[in-house]
Amino acid sequence: MIKAKEILDSNKKPTIKVELKTDWGSFAAAAPSGVSTGFYEAVEMRDEDGGVKKAIENIEKIIAPALEREKLDDQKKIDKILIDLDGTKNKARLGANAILAVSIAVCRAIAANKKITLYQYIAQLSEVGAPKVLPKPSFNMIEGGKHAQNGLAFQEFMVVPQKDLFKENLAIGIKIYQKLGEILKNKFGAVKLSAEGAYAPKIETSFGAIDLILQASQGENIRMAIDAAGAKAEDYSELVAKYPILSVEDPFGEEDFENFAQLKNKIGDSSLIFGDDLTVSNIERIKLAEEKQACNGLILKPNQIGTVTETIEAAKLAKSYGWKIMVANRAGETEDSFIADLAVGIGADFIKSGAPYPAERMAKYNRLLDIEKTL
Ligand code: PGA
Ligand code: ZN
Repeated sequence: MIKAKEILDSNKKPTIKVELKTDWGSFAAAAPSGVSTGFYEAVEMRDEDGGVKKAIENIEKIIAPALEREKLDDQKKIDKILIDLDGTKNKARLGANAILAVSIAVCRAIAANKKITLYQYIAQLSEVGAPKVLPKPSFNMIEGGKHAQNGLAFQEFMVVPQKDLFKENLAIGIKIYQKLGEILKNKFGAVKLSAEGAYAPKIETSFGAIDLILQASQGENIRMAIDAAGAKAEDYSELVAKYPILSVEDPFGEEDFENFAQLKNKIGDSSLIFGDDLTVSNIERIKLAEEKQACNGLILKPNQIGTVTETIEAAKLAKSYGWKIMVANRAGETEDSFIADLAVGIGADFIKSGAPYPAERMAKYNRLLDIEKTL
């Protein structure tokens, strides 16, 4: 039996939580919600007033009856039913938020029925061997762009500690986050936190933000990840020459394959160029990006595409091109930690789940701590 209800995400916006009852237990899942969403993402179903009543109705009146008699033993089969029920190319009829919450709850139920963990089931579906290492976490330290109203053009300035163990990387991330908080407090007085729990100080330039983060990171072996979210504010060649930049995400707009390709040509040997809004976890867009040689990394977000199966397909395709993968949270999150299991299960290289502070971000980092103990 499938039930759906409205809960609030970390931005206090309504979102969907699904509860799936089976003979072997109850399984829940919730849909996250982006703020700087890509044009080509699957459709998030919203009522005129921003609510999710219609999406919930779609789950209870259309999806639930269709899955009523289905055996929950194969993710691909269930996701195919969901995709066919919707019938559109972009989940516009039922809503990617409605479909994804059901798809994730089903994934948990199938894993439990098989008596394996969620990440183990995802590893089976991904046809990769048993996971051995965890993805490296990329911790959001300073936010700008649409995530903050502080005038900073880039959306996320992240720190990627370079230890082998996730536990050690988390400890370093927390230490730097706290240190940066002190530095910013001394410099600016009280500093607000932003959508993903990172600081939102009024700093003029990206270079200024990076300098402060590096000051807080002194003595630690880290690299930095930037999400420009399409706002080209600096000369990227200068940026990577000057700073320990591991990756640049969405350095240009979501249509700008040409500039992506030029940049990859220039800095792609030493840095990763991630597509996020460019590729929207969609195999057609990923194929196009590879054709145009636009990037060498994929940001993977299940709610950009709407089912677990399609998310895994996107990861497989990107891997077949030799791209690196960073699984990512959304600006509007819940306590659902699915992306932690997803990142481990598909063998992702990185995961970003915001600052190592708010509970909805820590839910993912804590799940990774648990998983690391079992490997
Ligand atoms: P969003 O931001 O959830 O607002 O899209 C995250 C990102 O761009 O990576
Ligand atoms: Zn992004």
